[in-house]
Amino acid sequence: MTFRIDLSLGRNGYPIFVRAGMLKNPEKGLVRHFFPRKTAIVASKKIYRVHGRQLATWLSRQGIPVQKIFVNDSETRKNEKTLFAILRKMAEFGFNRDSGLVALGGGVIGDMTGLAASLYMRGIPYIQCPTTLLAQVDAGIGGKTAIDFCGTKNLIGAFYQPKAVLIDPDALKTLPQRQFISGLAEVVKYGVIRDENLFSFMEANKQPILSRDSKFLRYIIARSCAIKADVVSRDEREGGLRAVLNYGHTLGHALESYFEYEYLTHGEAISYGMWFAGLLSSSLGLCGQEIVDRQVKLLQSLGLFRALPKLDNNRLLKIMALDKKSKNGQVQFVLTRKIGLVNIRKNIPRSTILSALTRLQAEARELI
Ligand code: GLY
Repeated sequence: MTFRIDLSLGRNGYPIFVRAGMLKNPEKGLVRHFFPRKTAIVASKKIYRVHGRQLATWLSRQGIPVQKIFVNDSETRKNEKTLFAILRKMAEFGFNRDSGLVALGGGVIGDMTGLAASLYMRGIPYIQCPTTLLAQVDAGIGGKTAIDFCGTKNLIGAFYQPKAVLIDPDALKTLPQRQFISGLAEVVKYGVIRDENLFSFMEANKQPILSRDSKFLRYIIARSCAIKADVVSRDEREGGLRAVLNYGHTLGHALESYFEYEYLTHGEAISYGMWFAGLLSSSLGLCGQEIVDRQVKLLQSLGLFRALPKLDNNRLLKIMALDKKSKNGQVQFVLTRKIGLVNIRKNIPRSTILSALTRLQAEARELI
């Protein structure tokens, strides 16, 4: 069965399809409607071998000629050099406005492919086929495209929506376990910000989810996509509401940067960020301790906490203040009211932030 979720954005709206086996054999109607007449699949060599070849064969059988553009998908190559290599290939293939790209891979591939599509001839279509859990529930949806530049993540980018998103939960079968679990943190996030049922579903079904049972994955992916699609449709350019998607990310991003993107995966970093946001919320009287405990218990049972060395809190605070999303040096936090409801807050006293950071580390040392 195929789940279809529509992201409504007027002319820029698009469908998100979720089905096991989707990348081996997309629906014929879908191909006619969404794939450009001349297509290039952008992928790493490895992902192309595992998922791209079959998709390319299938598309050529439907009369769509497919080229391939191989790129290195590591975060360190998400730069102008790779972006221009993609654009050069498109020019060599003689791409025009009827042509388009298919982003096949994780967030790095999706971000760069989307940006290349937005720039080539002032914008040609692209389709997202995310193959990591992080990209399936987050990066592949919502049209944020970017490269890192001058040492800053995602400094150059555009909001540029794809024509469709094709999600195949079976693609996750080959993902390394730590990377898969990292994506689960984003699913927990959707539960906390918008959907207590999704959160309870995760609590009740940890085992089948961790063993990647397609039926369970299809549900949590489709639910996460529906929440993201709803938030983005109300606030495409992050004027306000879209910031709720950054729950746990203020400290999470700071921790990733603190460890130079090496020690913690994104999901591990935002798990600490969610724990911290919970502690901050309870210390401000916004929620009870039981709301924090419930999040920590679920995240821990999914294997999302990696022990931390002693942290320099002042350095962390500095990194948070430099975050692109902080305004006039005021760090913005998404805070928990209850499971399924969050609020955005600025102007939190430095002393409150510091004591929550100290408490987080003391409690983490005890638990992990
Ligand atoms: N990853 C957060 C957003 O797409 O807004």
